[in-house]
Amino acid sequence: MQTNTGFKDGFLWGGATAANQIEGAFDVDGKGLSSADFVEYIPKEQRTKDNSMEVTTEHIQKVLSGEYEGRFPKREGINFYYHYEEDIKLLAEMGFKAFRMSIHWSRVFPKGFESEPNEAGLKFYENVFKTLKSYDIEPVVTLSHYETPYGLTEKYNGWIGREVIEHFEHYAKTVFKRYKGLVKYWMTFNEINIINISPFTGGGILSDQLENPKAASYQALHHQLVASSLATKALREIDADAQMGCMLARMKHYPYTCNPEDVLKAMQDDQMNLLYTDVHALGEYPNYYKQFLKENDINLDIQEGDLETLKNYTVDYISFSYYMSLLSANTEEGIRTEGNLMNSLKNPYLEASEWGWQIDPIGIRVVLNEFWDRYHKPLFIVENGLGAKDKVEEDGSIHDSYRIDYLEKHISEMKKAVIDGVDLMGYLAWGPIDLVSMSTSEMSKRYGFIYVDKDDEGNGSGERTRKDSFNWYKNVIETNGGNL
Ligand code: BG6
Repeated sequence: MQTNTGFKDGFLWGGATAANQIEGAFDVDGKGLSSADFVEYIPKEQRTKDNSMEVTTEHIQKVLSGEYEGRFPKREGINFYYHYEEDIKLLAEMGFKAFRMSIHWSRVFPKGFESEPNEAGLKFYENVFKTLKSYDIEPVVTLSHYETPYGLTEKYNGWIGREVIEHFEHYAKTVFKRYKGLVKYWMTFNEINIINISPFTGGGILSDQLENPKAASYQALHHQLVASSLATKALREIDADAQMGCMLARMKHYPYTCNPEDVLKAMQDDQMNLLYTDVHALGEYPNYYKQFLKENDINLDIQEGDLETLKNYTVDYISFSYYMSLLSANTEEGIRTEGNLMNSLKNPYLEASEWGWQIDPIGIRVVLNEFWDRYHKPLFIVENGLGAKDKVEEDGSIHDSYRIDYLEKHISEMKKAVIDGVDLMGYLAWGPIDLVSMSTSEMSKRYGFIYVDKDDEGNGSGERTRKDSFNWYKNVIETNGGNL
């Protein structure tokens, strides 16, 4: 049923996080190491494309041997492991209906391939889910959010190994059984498209060990897609009331000019971004992808039954992150700017965040309509937000009008998309409580309604403070999007 604000009753307003960016306690209660535990903080001046997210075998060995002196903020997060009760209480004060979090696979299976799970890890998530439920907040759970157990990297070079499918299936079945009735909304791989952009981040893959990293990343993608469908199958068997979604970093490509060459390039770039949801929603590899594989001389090892699995177990809903749009042109020339996972030519019509991500609220209406027209499945925005530096005033207040402005504009375009006719389940703002940045491991790139007193060097009390956006979002939720 639609209310007069356009949003359904029961619309899932809330926020989203990932285990490695909030929990801390990276080696506590039996947790094993994961890919995120090797990512260090590098100050901006020293950061290069090569040392920001992808890590090398040499780096891993140095860290393991204790020779390394860097800081690893994803090992610390914001101490949610010990602080979750107070944090959830604050989210409940804002009226959250849903909270997205991930399970750290290596907290449940420390190396990723054990047969028996770590009870302390399972218990932790059970406590968190129960706390959320006690405030009527629906947990929305990602099985794998840039946190591949290091044991799988060591043994199989991460998702390069087909064996990992079976280990993932076992992990998925274990948590589905344990949290049956507690968790209704699941998704498999966060921003699954990252596997072909940063294979270590998305799949615990060390590319320097591979002869042809590009081809290998598409093989790893095949493994993840099959694993994702097998998890969907398992969920249907174990908990018929639960729902499974996929998760894409949606990167809408606009043509740089109206030159048909640019239009074609934008369409092709867009297809390669939609590949992942095409498979998850429609259950097969599209022709443009088969052509891409041929042109790039990539022969996927597809085993008997794989294609049937993809076909038979498609997702219930399409979830995605949206931060910005990109430009495509048939030339490399032009001014470029940074972005989520990818950089782009600069769009003269758009402003950008301090990190160069181009701010495009109308784009969210465009992508919602396109998704709906393409798949006719319910849609769920599971990440959106502005990374910005906040200033704490002398009295402790934080006036983040820039964040309110970004969110207000995106939510109002989202509202128009609902009026256009798309079926939207919910909206989860990224990082409702400040957390460690995925791409830069900074704390100063903040998304939250709740400020966490911690800086890039790890100093600070960890104290939580409500920003101006806290009450603003509370009111948005209270009025079901009526007051923006
Ligand atoms: C998404 C990721 O790509 O963007 C999150 O799923 C991430 O993990 C978010 O934190 C924002 O990116 P960043 O680099 O600003 O933290």
